[in-house]
Amino acid sequence: MSGHVDRLLASFLKYLENNSFEGKPAGLYEAKNYLASLGGKRARPIALMAAAEAANGTIETALPAAWAFEMFHNFTLAHDDIMDRAVMRRGKPALHDQYDEATAILAGDNMMLFVYQRLMNNYPNEVSIPLMKLVTQTGIEICEGQFMDMEFEKLKRVKEDSYLHMIKLKTAVLLGACLKAGGIVAGADEQDLEYLYDLGLNLGIGFQIKDDLMDAFSDNPKLGKVKGGDIMSNKKTILYIKALELANEQQGLELKEWFSKEVANNSEKVQAVLALFRTLKVEENVEAMMNTYYHKAYQDLQKLSFNNQKMEPLQAFVGFLAGREH
Ligand code: IPE
Ligand code: IPE
Ligand code: MG
Ligand code: MG
Ligand code: MG
Repeated sequence: MSGHVDRLLASFLKYLENNSFEGKPAGLYEAKNYLASLGGKRARPIALMAAAEAANGTIETALPAAWAFEMFHNFTLAHDDIMDRAVMRRGKPALHDQYDEATAILAGDNMMLFVYQRLMNNYPNEVSIPLMKLVTQTGIEICEGQFMDMEFEKLKRVKEDSYLHMIKLKTAVLLGACLKAGGIVAGADEQDLEYLYDLGLNLGIGFQIKDDLMDAFSDNPKLGKVKGGDIMSNKKTILYIKALELANEQQGLELKEWFSKEVANNSEKVQAVLALFRTLKVEENVEAMMNTYYHKAYQDLQKLSFNNQKMEPLQAFVGFLAGREH
């Protein structure tokens, strides 16, 4: 099954090789290329291509949109690392650390505008306009989600529903949009577009829960981020929310105390919080929750009206994402 994911990735990388861009000022374009050149899983373009194939389209028609959506993702990462005070991305210095904040902001803006340019220049209006509407709505929602994520840093309690709404906006809508965009370039009907989008939402919610889990618990170097970054910046992730739910009064007070200040000695804070998470069996609890969303995603696959054989790459992609370890 993973043969399909590898094949789509290889096509995407080949397309990138033939579509590199340079511009002036050189420093701006070097920064723009920096994150993309570091790779990452390329989950969004693979999603888009797999959906296009499922809907009986070709990889060739999907590739410009796949590149545009990956660029959109990289734009959000460039700005996210500034907001999150994150210094490492894909195993290398974050963009704003490698260059400076002004460069990371401008390179990010440039990437986002490149998305529109690529869509306008590569598709007829009847395809590019729906794609641009989709990107626009998705971008608005990501801003809303990112704002909530930042607001939550300052709160002591966040309800599980609010968290789920926040991650739907900051993360899941982009995966939904990629799957839908694959359907759009392949000419799928409205009903299938809606099912593709819903599949992306459930998959994306599971994906962000896994991201939260790995931030605290993973030692996989391929993750390429600072371990415990969410704890350092007081993120109200699902781990924190579940921990408070499971904690006794004393443990709850301790958690809230740690998550309401930034400290000089981060390693002491991360160790203390991880110890509490472990005592409370937070990881097991949150994994079970994540799996309910992956399960929903698998159910969404069944709703699509596409030819079974054509569905194989999309099924493989869902399995690949749900099984990821970085
Ligand atoms: C990171 O996305 C940002 C989130 C939405 C969690 P990925 O985990 O897909 O990052 P890359 O692209 O593989 O580096
Ligand atoms: C990612 O959330 C959401 C966006 C980039 C829009 P995170 O802040 O959790 O992503 P990572 O962990 O830095 O990749
Ligand atoms: Mg971040
Ligand atoms: Mg963030
Ligand atoms: Mg994260």
